[in-house]
Amino acid sequence: MSHETIESLLEEERRFPPTAAFAAQATVRDPAIYEQGEDIEAFWESHAKSFTWFSAWSKVLDWQPPFAKWFVGGTTNITVNCLDRHVEGDKADKTAFIWEGEPGDERIITYADLLRDVCRCANGLRALGVRKGDRVTIYMGMIPELAVAMLACARIGAAHSIVFGGFSPDALKERINDSDSRVVITADGAWRRAGVVPLKANVDAALAETPRVKTCVVVERVGRAKAGVEMVEGRDIWWHELVADQPETCDPEHMDSEDLLFILYTSGTTGKPKGIAHTTGGYMVGAAMTHKWVFDVKDDDIYWCTADIGWVTGHSYIVYGPLANGSTGVMYEGGPDYPDKDRFWDIVERRKVTIFYTAPTAIRAFMGWGDEFVTKHDLASLRLLGSVGEPINPEAWMWYHEIIGGGRCPIVDTWWQTETGSIMVSALPGLTTNKPGSASRALPGIHVDVVDEEGQSVPLGSGGFLVIKKPWPSMLRTIYGDDERYKDVYWSKFDGLYFAGDGCKRDSEGYLWLLGRVDDIMLVSGHNISTMEVESALVDHPDVAESAVVGRTHEIKGQAITAFVTMRAGTENTDEKRTEIRKHVATKLGPLGRPEEVYFAPQLPKTRSGKIMRRLLRDIAEGRDLGDVTTLADPSVVDSLRAQYQRHHT
Ligand code: WT7
Repeated sequence: MSHETIESLLEEERRFPPTAAFAAQATVRDPAIYEQGEDIEAFWESHAKSFTWFSAWSKVLDWQPPFAKWFVGGTTNITVNCLDRHVEGDKADKTAFIWEGEPGDERIITYADLLRDVCRCANGLRALGVRKGDRVTIYMGMIPELAVAMLACARIGAAHSIVFGGFSPDALKERINDSDSRVVITADGAWRRAGVVPLKANVDAALAETPRVKTCVVVERVGRAKAGVEMVEGRDIWWHELVADQPETCDPEHMDSEDLLFILYTSGTTGKPKGIAHTTGGYMVGAAMTHKWVFDVKDDDIYWCTADIGWVTGHSYIVYGPLANGSTGVMYEGGPDYPDKDRFWDIVERRKVTIFYTAPTAIRAFMGWGDEFVTKHDLASLRLLGSVGEPINPEAWMWYHEIIGGGRCPIVDTWWQTETGSIMVSALPGLTTNKPGSASRALPGIHVDVVDEEGQSVPLGSGGFLVIKKPWPSMLRTIYGDDERYKDVYWSKFDGLYFAGDGCKRDSEGYLWLLGRVDDIMLVSGHNISTMEVESALVDHPDVAESAVVGRTHEIKGQAITAFVTMRAGTENTDEKRTEIRKHVATKLGPLGRPEEVYFAPQLPKTRSGKIMRRLLRDIAEGRDLGDVTTLADPSVVDSLRAQYQRHHT
């Protein structure tokens, strides 16, 4: 892919150094920190020392490639680090979570409250027979009990496996069985755009085919009548009844640093889901340290990560990282456009949020909705912005910077994966000069490279595959129950290197430009073109809000580029517009990048985690029957696209 990749895009000229004011107060401001990260064992050991351990490790790292053990022999409990040490220190009354429900209800939860709730739940789980080493599946909406349930599992040494509340009963069943969970924790339902997601009914459907599940714990969130909940005698128990008479303290289990903390299934669109296994000590150190450094979190910050806890972003940067650092976080239950498209900005203004972390797909949606939903709010409290989940195209970066950040907030574009457990590549906001669209470079203590097909490092100014060269504390330890698959997926492509699956270009100054999954590369007339580059050129057109690009088979070119675009409010979807958009891309990328056809999409088909479903778009572009659409957030969006295909081809 490397040298053939279109070179014209990604020659971003704009530079954004940290402001003097920001740099002066930043936690990390000495560039020598990168050198300290050269010696990974000394570096990570120095961080591990700031945590509470029951007993110290005898060895920092035991690396039998590709199997790593960190802080070998050390014992701890992550909840002691997230809760007890703050409560025993000076933070008992500090707010851990400012929680807002979609209907407008709120709960302010202090560290003392959270510790008490976690202990009661942990005791309840023990009463149900849950023991150290067991797995518990959690399937809930964004309510405080979700964080309480996961911490309660960690308290007693049971690994949690959280399944995102938007998943179908089938997906849930598969994950319950793969993890061999005997207990499932859920809620009667979840609020979403004023409707109710029937969580408990979904669990009931899943549990029809999960013979080993003995108990289902149910939080009452929306009210029994609304959710139409049926409790199965002998199996189901209400959360409030389970915890009612439980003691408010609970001895934390002493966990080996390498004991399983959680399993999280990756959101792949094909194949059996992979249960990514994370262990205790290394994950704790990685999540907490990166949260503190990348987000420059201080004691008085109000930090808001808008992810769902059902994804790894929520695990590491709503729950474990922020709580380990004793910070105050916002947690919001519902959708960004309920009751109106300014819900997020209303929350930022009212709660005086200082640090805001979201995904490019959300940013582009906000852009498409129009600036007025933002500008009617006072966002002066914000001081740092973050992005995660996919490459952020320069236009979205600029909009985020100017309209949300008022031109004053550094942006941290954070590259990482469920597998990496914590952020690997990101700016350090007090140090790094940003280039819009680049995630910049690996964090101190993290060693990445860009390599060619043979695993050789490519020169500056060219592209290849992103790899990680040395083990890191929060790395996945295996795929749950399948060491062979772990070796095969991540360690077999290049000898001794972790293969992340992402294409990446490294510019002349060593900045990294993520190009998306390598399976998203098209081959047009013998040239490799990344879908992301074309998408970036498309949204550079003033009328285009969001785009997705796929390659389809073409008799002559091998592959041709098909573009799907969502237009900004108030533009006309005419054939002239199509021509203009195709021309615009050709001007930016050269004629090779020009899409063969442009479809107007009122919305793009996305998974519930916000990832565009390219497989489906490819089916549409090829005129094929559509396969499984059940993981789509909104299955109706494909109908209009199919109609346009038919108009095109009849
Ligand atoms: C994949 C991992 C990590 C939390 C959310 C996703 C893509 C993630 C970025 C970024 C470019 C990114 C990669 C990666 N990705 N962050 N800042 N720039 N691409 O977790 O579901 O495990 O997905 O998301 O393709 O491999 P995930």
